[in-house]
Amino acid sequence: MAEPLWWQSGAIYQIYPRSFQDSDGDGVGDLDGIRSRLDYLTWLGVDAIWISPIYPSPMADFGYDVADYCGIHPLFGSLRDFDALVAEAHARGLKVILDFVPNHTSDRHPWFLESRASRANAKRDWYVWRDGKADGAPPNNWMSQFGGPAWTYDDATRQWYLHSFLRQQPDLNWRNPQVRAAMNAVLDFWLRRGVDGFRVDVIWLLIKDEALRDNPPNPAWQPGQADIGRNLQVYNADQPEVHEVIAGMRQVLDRYDERVLIGEIYLPVERLVTYYGKGLGGAQLPFNFQLILAAWDAPKIARLIEEYEGHLPPGGWPNWVLGNHDQPRIAARVGSEQARVAAMLLLTLRGTPTLYYGDELGLGRVAIPRDAVQDPWEKNEPGLGLGRDPSRTPMQWNAGRHAAFTTAAKPWLPLDADHARMNVETLRAQPRSLLKLYHALLALRRRHRALTSGSFKLISADAHTLVYERALGAERLVVALNLGAEPQRLSDHLGGAEVLLSTALNREGTLAEPILRANEGLVLRP
Ligand code: NOJ
Ligand code: MG
Repeated sequence: MAEPLWWQSGAIYQIYPRSFQDSDGDGVGDLDGIRSRLDYLTWLGVDAIWISPIYPSPMADFGYDVADYCGIHPLFGSLRDFDALVAEAHARGLKVILDFVPNHTSDRHPWFLESRASRANAKRDWYVWRDGKADGAPPNNWMSQFGGPAWTYDDATRQWYLHSFLRQQPDLNWRNPQVRAAMNAVLDFWLRRGVDGFRVDVIWLLIKDEALRDNPPNPAWQPGQADIGRNLQVYNADQPEVHEVIAGMRQVLDRYDERVLIGEIYLPVERLVTYYGKGLGGAQLPFNFQLILAAWDAPKIARLIEEYEGHLPPGGWPNWVLGNHDQPRIAARVGSEQARVAAMLLLTLRGTPTLYYGDELGLGRVAIPRDAVQDPWEKNEPGLGLGRDPSRTPMQWNAGRHAAFTTAAKPWLPLDADHARMNVETLRAQPRSLLKLYHALLALRRRHRALTSGSFKLISADAHTLVYERALGAERLVVALNLGAEPQRLSDHLGGAEVLLSTALNREGTLAEPILRANEGLVLRP
């Protein structure tokens, strides 16, 4: 295989900028804060950071409602601060990936202000405006991801506009060539400033059915579940024309060296892989969220790995994601013991891994008191457990006040109650902490190219154990994971293998007995 590109061999680390490090004492993280923590990231051993949106925004959806695609929200700093961050990251060999939010703007974006001004406005067609039904109902039955109809009536021009998310997030009309040109110019703006790639928000939703047909009802939906599940997402998502749009974005990136286009896509594997694009001219990394969505069960995980590997198009590079700012954290899903096994799985599968900040500390579901809730989804559909705040709480740096996240009286979201114990400084001083395991796994990937660019072969999966091989040239490594809390016997021929790493960080040398201890994962050289 040719020398892998940085986004193939490297590990990506997602930063939720409001929660990483506050530098100016306002209780909200910012760019200078991130810059002050770059040494931590290089110590940890990641290769790239993806920063969730930092653009000017009314913050109805915490930055995913963009009011200016080519600026920086003063809360986070300035363009100069951004340039300084990129320069210092690059000086350390760290790549910088921005979040690009093309499906919708803020309702305060100047484009939308124009568009809603009159039916005759030149930007009217930049958004999706329609007449309602004769009985006064919205144009169709589509639901907003955050609850309620996906349409809002605008009195001034007596039409409805589409919003797949909040009403403060009107959807752009990607069928309009001017929209495409304006948004591709945004990509160009940041590429010229030196960013190494983009994670594209809800890329599979960009184009909607031209006739805006009603979605069919979802027979499995039940009261008490999120509104968005009422209908099947047939006409508002994953339309064939979306691939032209993505190819257009990719062409912009391809005018530069080694930039990466990552797509956020929640679809079944056979649909997901179409986002690599014809002739692989689509997203280089259509995010693979299967480890987030799967039950923690060895046979099921084995099946999904094989299914994914089997569906990849020739030349399509795999990737794996364990957590993000929209989902319950891995430690909350599988518990703190299995979070170690999950880390080994993420960092030894074939393909680019994406880590979510704070998962390396073992942060779980942080309790958010009712009066501290921030997430608009929780506010719109309260009490259903949909809120994302519990996974977005501040990074914990040391045992001091607010874990050194901020000097403000109050951080924007509460910290984990356990922050005196669960923080970078404390865990870095403990030889067997989860943080040390992440560090060791990332270092192991750098030492063994079999892990970053070798082949993958499933060896076995039984009720509790998952075993696979990664091989490159003469090097053959075996990864054996115990997804349960009882010791498990491995195949006899692994007896005598060299232990390169145990998730418990308490053994190396020869594997005398071919046994996986409870909740243990091993990287072995047979
Ligand atoms: C997906 C993002 O990850 C999520 O946080 C956001 O709320 C929606 N897209 C809308 O932009
Ligand atoms: Mg701040």
